[in-house]
Amino acid sequence: MLVFALALVLLHPSLAVERYYTRPAEVCMPFNLPGPEDPCRPGGFYDFFYKRCTGYRPGDLCFQCHKGVYCEERVPLEECYLDASLHHPFVYDEYWSLFGGAPCDRVPNPYRLSYMFGTAGTGYPVTSRGMLMKPLDELTRQLHAMVGNAETEGRIIVPSVGATQGIVAALYALSQTVIEEEGVEVADVYVQSPYYNHLPWLTENLLKTTKWNLDADPTKNTTIEIVTWANNPDGQLLPPKQPNKRRRFFDLSYYWPTFVKNITKVDDDIMVFSGSKNNGLAGSRSGWVIVKEGDLSEKVMDFVGNETLAVAIDTQIRQILHTEKIIESHQSESPYGGFYDYMSRLNYNRIRILTQLFETSENYTFMNAELGTIGAVAWVKCNMPDCNCFDLFNEIGLLGEEGELFGASKAYLRLSLGNPNIEFRTMLLKIYTRLHGELPSIEAENEVLEDLERS
Ligand SMILES: Cc1ncc(COP(=O)(O)O)c(C=O)c1O
Repeated sequence: MLVFALALVLLHPSLAVERYYTRPAEVCMPFNLPGPEDPCRPGGFYDFFYKRCTGYRPGDLCFQCHKGVYCEERVPLEECYLDASLHHPFVYDEYWSLFGGAPCDRVPNPYRLSYMFGTAGTGYPVTSRGMLMKPLDELTRQLHAMVGNAETEGRIIVPSVGATQGIVAALYALSQTVIEEEGVEVADVYVQSPYYNHLPWLTENLLKTTKWNLDADPTKNTTIEIVTWANNPDGQLLPPKQPNKRRRFFDLSYYWPTFVKNITKVDDDIMVFSGSKNNGLAGSRSGWVIVKEGDLSEKVMDFVGNETLAVAIDTQIRQILHTEKIIESHQSESPYGGFYDYMSRLNYNRIRILTQLFETSENYTFMNAELGTIGAVAWVKCNMPDCNCFDLFNEIGLLGEEGELFGASKAYLRLSLGNPNIEFRTMLLKIYTRLHGELPSIEAENEVLEDLERS
């Protein structure tokens, strides 16, 4: 009787302790309304923070070289400056605004109260010492299996704050291994030129155990080689010179169908990936390292665990939702094809148009076409003696990045292909002006664009 009374009291609704951790979060901020549902397109986009259209008032965000109430008016070419230096992947907005980005955040809020999953008694399934949500682990493996770009069997997936942290984690793991196995204090870091311009800084300033040394013998066991596929800036897939898998790693940030035509599976001990380059969400700072299980994976996890404790749970949730979308897009019938069909069509088309534009020029070479690569950036060479390619394009208001930053000469220039279509078209006109001289009117400019796009 007493037990029955106690049960009645405990089960009374006013006393029921809500299992708060099963309640889904109500965080739903679809920054990317699908194109047709966004009342602010085409001139702007709906801003969920300010709860209004942006792109409609003076000072609002407009595409570069555009102005006007609807941002629809093109500023005359000679009066505007187009920044194609840093690689901000705005080009993905076209896909996500057409098909919708991540809808809502479905993860219970209390999961955010811990630094990592699985540590606050939530029982949430995790991997990589609690740093990675299991659903993201599974989806990432599924994505790689679908694309066929990396072996995940026998590997740990360690989340990182972008590929940037992944690169340093790989350098840490490999340099510690060099020190243990070779009895030296510092490992040399070697890359083939031209190389991703951030690598020297990352190598020289964050670890005590790595030294940037392009004169090092890349085949020695005291040298770590960084191999970037597809290479930034020239899009090449150069084979590694370092034969020892415990002395090299692959930065595969651009090893996706969007940037590379014939993908075959990479089966190395450490492979670094980037969310920014794959799905475009650079601001979410998502990355991951696929690392062979054993001492190397322990070291990579030590690095990420100590440096940032873990990767933001919000970042992982966003990554889950977008990875799901990408996989689903390839499982459903759509006239556009899947995500990679769409993005590679867009990117290859840009390369084709640029190839056509540079074809008739003797003074300027489009290196991607010369090398037969795609990649994510345009690598341009100015052929005149002693020329400074950066200055030549800067003079006409097109800002790129100097070849010297990438270990090449002043004759080279990198132009980002991350800009949205409307800015890419302005870039084409700017390049046309440099190669062939000024166009007399807007009509002539439009004709050039039409010809190129039809080519
Ligand atoms: C070759 C290469 N690796 C890594 C990165 C860094 O990527 P993330 O944004 O994921 O840190 C970049 C960014 O431009 C890159 O070009």
